[in-house]
Formats: sequence, C-alpha cells, structure tokens
Amino acid sequence: MKKSDVIEKILQHKLLQTPQRDQGQAFAPTNIALCKYWGKRDSELNLPVTSSLSIALPTKGALTSIIESHAKEDVVILNDKEVSPDSNFAKRLKNYLDLFRVKTLWRLQIDIKMNIPAAAGLASSACGFASLVSALNELFAWQLTKRELSLLARLGSGSAARSLWNGFVEWYAGTQADGMDSYAQPLAVEWPTLTIGILPISDAEKPVSSRVAMQRTVETSMLYANWPNKAAQDMKLLHQALQEKNFSLLGETAESNALNMHSTMLSSWPPVCYFLPETIAAMQQIWSLRRDGIEVYFTQDAGPNLKLLLHKKDKMIVKKYFPHADMINLF
Ligand code: PMV
Repeated sequence: MKKSDVIEKILQHKLLQTPQRDQGQAFAPTNIALCKYWGKRDSELNLPVTSSLSIALPTKGALTSIIESHAKEDVVILNDKEVSPDSNFAKRLKNYLDLFRVKTLWRLQIDIKMNIPAAAGLASSACGFASLVSALNELFAWQLTKRELSLLARLGSGSAARSLWNGFVEWYAGTQADGMDSYAQPLAVEWPTLTIGILPISDAEKPVSSRVAMQRTVETSMLYANWPNKAAQDMKLLHQALQEKNFSLLGETAESNALNMHSTMLSSWPPVCYFLPETIAAMQQIWSLRRDGIEVYFTQDAGPNLKLLLHKKDKMIVKKYFPHADMINLF
C-alpha cells in the first residue's frame, strides 16, 4: 500500500478542497521517546515493529504557518530564512505536500519557526510534520480528529505520530497492513515533579539519517532480533512506573532502552555510532552522580545529544555539573 492510498482513505472527498481559510497555523511540541521506535515493519508507511512511548516538551517544538502561494513552487522559510528548494529539508516537505495535491493543485508558503536544532537527533522532524499537518487541517478546514492527524503525521516521519499532544503519549505499533491502527494517543498521567534537561553536545547535521540507520540495523544487526522483546518489556515497565510514579523505574527503563537501541546500531554493518567522545563523558558523569545519590538518567536518540531525566528538586545540583543543560518543566 502507498502513502497516497492511506491519505485517500482518511481524506476522501476532502482531497478536492482548495484552501478554505487565509492561513493555517499550528504549534507542535517535540517529543522524547522513553521507549524508542526503532525499526519499521513497513518503510513506505512508517509502520513500526514495536509500540513506543514518549514525553512531549511543551515549550520546544515547531510553529508552522501556511498560506496559499501564487509562486510556481512551494516557498519554505525556516526561522525567517528562505530555504533552497534543492535542500533535503525543502524536498522532504514538498514530497509530503505532493501526497495531498493529487486532485487539486495549490502551492504554499510554509513558514516554520523551530526552537530546536534541525536534524541533530532532537526530533525536529517529529514536531515539524505534526505542526505542518495540523496547519493543513486548519487551512483546508478538514476538521480531522487528532487520531487522524497522528496517522497523517506518521507518513511524514514516524515519531511525528506522537507529537500531537503534550504529556505522555503512546504510539501503537498496530498490526494492519494499511496502518490504520498505528496511531498515537495521550496517556492520562501528569507528573509535575519530573524535569527533562536537554544536553546539547553538537548541533552538526547527523552523519547518517535515522531512516538509513534504522533500515541498516534491521537488515544487518544480529542483536535486532531481541529488540521487539526488549521494547515490549520496557513498555510494560514504563506503564508501571507511570502508574506508581516510580521515578527510578522510569529512569532506569528509559536509559536501558536507549542503550539497547544504540547497541543494535553499533552491531550493524557498517556500524552506526551517534556517540561523540563528549556523549560518553556525559554518560560517565551521570553514572557518577547516581553513585553519589543524585538520581539523574539519560536517553539518547539518533544524534550525539543527551536528554536528562531528573527530579525537579535536583535541577540546581544537576545544572552545576551540566551548566549548558536546558531544563524544561513538563506540566
Ligand atoms: O521519526 P524518525 O524517522 O525521525 O525516527 C525517530 C527515531 C528515534 O528518535 C531514534 C526514536 C524515537 O522513538 O523517537
């Protein structure tokens, strides 16, 4: 099945619509997976092998504003600068928009303001596609549900399926070939004493995209066979941690899940390594703080930066060791 077939299923006659409003605008938060999405059962539809669970960063993300354009091509503006139409960023957006303009032709001016570095493993594509699809929903007055928007956002980038809500979100792997059961939903849990710290290590563009890294891992890593078991177990533990508000269980599970994901990458060929020497040094520092009784954990995505999980009360002490960490309250 193709992406366009799924879009046709969801939008049906609405695909005939041209922009109904002057502007569509939406903000989507970025999300940090505590149990990762790593590996696809369908790479065209971005259907995951396993379910995943994330926490949104309510103040970090993408604000996308779109208006109809009378230029020949879409115009993409990122953080007030026009992006070259030949860049991967603009091409990826254009390809995504092409999926929606099969019955009527329109062009857009897309203005994206992101307060996280693009393409450095800080889930910029997640909030980018989630905000874009929500802005399209506004501009075309589609009146889709969040679940439908999650299905559409997934077609842009898998993790975008989770970026439509604040708080904790679960994305179901689903089993259907058309992926209509592979959407995300928010979990009714608030945890006001939890803090996430973003520890920037490098904002250089990643050497291998998450798409390529994921594919290579699935195809060549002997450790990948165990990943679905690990993810299933971690999903259970995370649900338990959320229910009991058990911070140690949450942190241990998230850290172990990230390290297992990176182990599958390191054991693929050619190896995929997102660690920089500074990433490892920061991990050593975190383990040393834990030995000293300060409960801080980390998780890491497809990039060298770390995200710290800590109690709000430990913010100042952790800041002493990681002065560049951006501490974000979640609720
Ligand atoms: O959505 P993608 O294709 O950028 O993949 C994201 C993969 C990870 O960030 C490493 C894990 C996750 O669940 O967000």
